[in-house]
Amino acid sequence: MNDVPLHRLYRHYSELPYSQRVLYTSTLIILGIGYLFAMLNLFHTYAGRAGGNPMMLSYQDIVVAYTGSGQGSRLESALRGPMSNMLPPDEVGVVIAWVQGGADRAKYDREIKPVLDKRCMTCHDGSNPHLPNFNGFDNLKKVTERDTGTDVFTLVRVSHIHLFGLTFLFFVMGLMYSHAYVRPVWFKCTVVALPFVAIVLDIGSWYFTKLYHPFAWVVIFGGAMMGLCFAFMWVVTMYQLWFSRTPPPVSQREIGDIPNVD
Ligand code: HEC
Repeated sequence: MNDVPLHRLYRHYSELPYSQRVLYTSTLIILGIGYLFAMLNLFHTYAGRAGGNPMMLSYQDIVVAYTGSGQGSRLESALRGPMSNMLPPDEVGVVIAWVQGGADRAKYDREIKPVLDKRCMTCHDGSNPHLPNFNGFDNLKKVTERDTGTDVFTLVRVSHIHLFGLTFLFFVMGLMYSHAYVRPVWFKCTVVALPFVAIVLDIGSWYFTKLYHPFAWVVIFGGAMMGLCFAFMWVVTMYQLWFSRTPPPVSQREIGDIPNVD
């Protein structure tokens, strides 16, 4: 298994011109930094989303990100939580009853608007872009909708960016890694192919998690598999580019010659 003859078109890094090795190295460095930033972004977006430890990314965080907390609207959770001391409890009751009753316009004009004008508008009048704007019925309506997680159209947008981006990333990575001397050959090929399988599993499961929560495990598994393959190809490529000795089967084949297999 380990002495499969070298393919006649196979070239090890040590046989590549310096310009190409420098190009590979530069690409590896920037891709590596890019991957770190991607992980940072992932962490920032999802960790603690389900209300658990904000420094830990959990299965539940992924479920909540794609399916919502299922615990009512943002307005309700704010009124029960951080905003509860902004108004007396009986007014909290009135607003929550209105939200749960469907948040209709007539009752808004009659009962809700006066409460909000008095208790909330000093901060939520729209002048601060970081706070939800309660100016007018339509703006308020946005925080009364049930939290159902990332909506399908956002997923579609993010999917197409990821499909193109990741395919380019792993194509470039796989092409550079294809010059590495790795045996057995089936293993080398598996590492090239796995990230592409992982892309499909990962992105597909974003949608399936909405239907059946345990698919969040597939999202995590797909992401982990991609990361592992990336790390493996990165290290092997960098190591064999500059640090390892030329593998004997490469140094022993006739220099400059591209022998035919048969
Ligand atoms: C003194 C200023 C102030 C007042 C008054 C105020 N809020 Fe807030 N509100 C904030 C700040 C600051 C945040 C963002 C930080 C946070 O979420 O705790 C916020 C966030 C929110 C959010 C978003 C929570 C989320 O999901 O991110 C809602 C909903 C909300 N407030 C509702 C209300 C309601 C309803 C009232 C009136 C009863 C009110 N607030 C009164 C300052 C205020």
